[in-house]
Amino acid sequence: MLTLVTPSEEYLTSYYEACLVTWGHTHNDYIIHNPAEYHTWSKTIFTDYENQRKGIGLPDGYIPSVTYWMVDTDSQQYIGTANIRLQLTKQLADYGGHIGCIIRNDMRGQGFGHKILDLSLDAARRLGISPILYTCILSNESSHSILLSGNYIRKEYAETTADGVFCKIGRFWY
Ligand SMILES: CC(C)(COP(=O)(O)OP(=O)(O)OC[C@H]1O[C@@H](n2cnc3c(N)ncnc32)[C@H](O)[C@@H]1OP(=O)(O)O)[C@@H](O)C(=O)NCCC(=O)NCCS
Repeated sequence: MLTLVTPSEEYLTSYYEACLVTWGHTHNDYIIHNPAEYHTWSKTIFTDYENQRKGIGLPDGYIPSVTYWMVDTDSQQYIGTANIRLQLTKQLADYGGHIGCIIRNDMRGQGFGHKILDLSLDAARRLGISPILYTCILSNESSHSILLSGNYIRKEYAETTADGVFCKIGRFWY
């Protein structure tokens, strides 16, 4: 069964294996760990996530966020990550939104992106967020396609700086 879980030791090895194949294949490095530094981050990862949730030690301009791992409980595999920001800053309202997500690189194109959208929206609602903003860069066709397929209330297109590049983006409210 696919579900979102609080990151835990049980899936750490699988997460590390995913980092090995996914590092360098993301829109932004904040959502995945550098596998070359495993021996450092593996000691602090769960405390770090907990501190991010509680807002402890965040960089300037960052707000608390909750990270979930999407796992397959049957195969005991880590599949992806959803990072849910509890509020929007001016910057996140422009691009970034409430949720950032990723599917491990070796499991893309199998429908897991659609699944993490549904599960992360449910999780965000349980955290009391409504409406929920998801954004994408339009040239990221799979991300755009996933957001279009969801049950959004409103969408808008704009141009802004996203992940360091001035480009066309979509904002989807659920
Ligand atoms: C975006 C991402 C989450 C998609 O995950 P995924 O598991 O491949 O998604 P799915 O298998 O559910 O496919 C989603 C759609 O994209 C399409 N797709 C997959 N790869 C594609 C590609 N290279 N080019 C165009 N479309 C593609 C699929 O056919 C599918 O189309 P459909 O909506 O018509 O069914 C994944 O590529 C990823 O983690 N990317 C890096 C992080 C990122 O960009 N996150 C999004 C910003 S939050």
